[in-house]
Amino acid sequence: MTLTALCPGTFDPVTNGHVDIVQRAAGLFDGVVVAVVENPAKEPLFPVAERVEMLRESLSGLANVEVESFSGLLVDYARTRGVGVIVKGLRAVSDFDYELQMAQMNRHLGEVETCFVPTSPRWSYLSSSLVKEIARFGGDVSGLVPEQVLRRLKERLA
Ligand code: PNS
Repeated sequence: MTLTALCPGTFDPVTNGHVDIVQRAAGLFDGVVVAVVENPAKEPLFPVAERVEMLRESLSGLANVEVESFSGLLVDYARTRGVGVIVKGLRAVSDFDYELQMAQMNRHLGEVETCFVPTSPRWSYLSSSLVKEIARFGGDVSGLVPEQVLRRLKERLA
């Protein structure tokens, strides 16, 4: 039996913290589907196609990882893909409340289990929102996001 996990997120944009979680999930499971949410209610900096592209570029070395986008409920997407496990990173206790609520709701809705992976300490202060804020004000985010993302951030915010 092969076991595949879903790593869902907004990834606007992908950070080194996300890459670390996906890499580690890829070592724990036979396959990983990175699922990029297309949420029309939110106004992301990068359109969903570009977020998918950046993830594919950043994760190209991982043979058992694929990247797709989805809209609607995560449990419906998980069912379509035949995946029963979600992997989420936890940076700090402050992440836990919301993540636990989503995990329990997803289990209620679709009998999907969630596995939490502790974020590596070196990325525990990192978030896509902070990266965007710093980049918008001309701050240096190199070393926090993959090289390709750095380039695209500069282009988009120029
Ligand atoms: O990167 P994020 O913003 O923490 O990811 C949140 C995400 C995409 C996992 C969550 O918003 C989600 O699952 N969205 C899809 C809609 C859905 O299923 N909502 C109910 C969650 S219990």
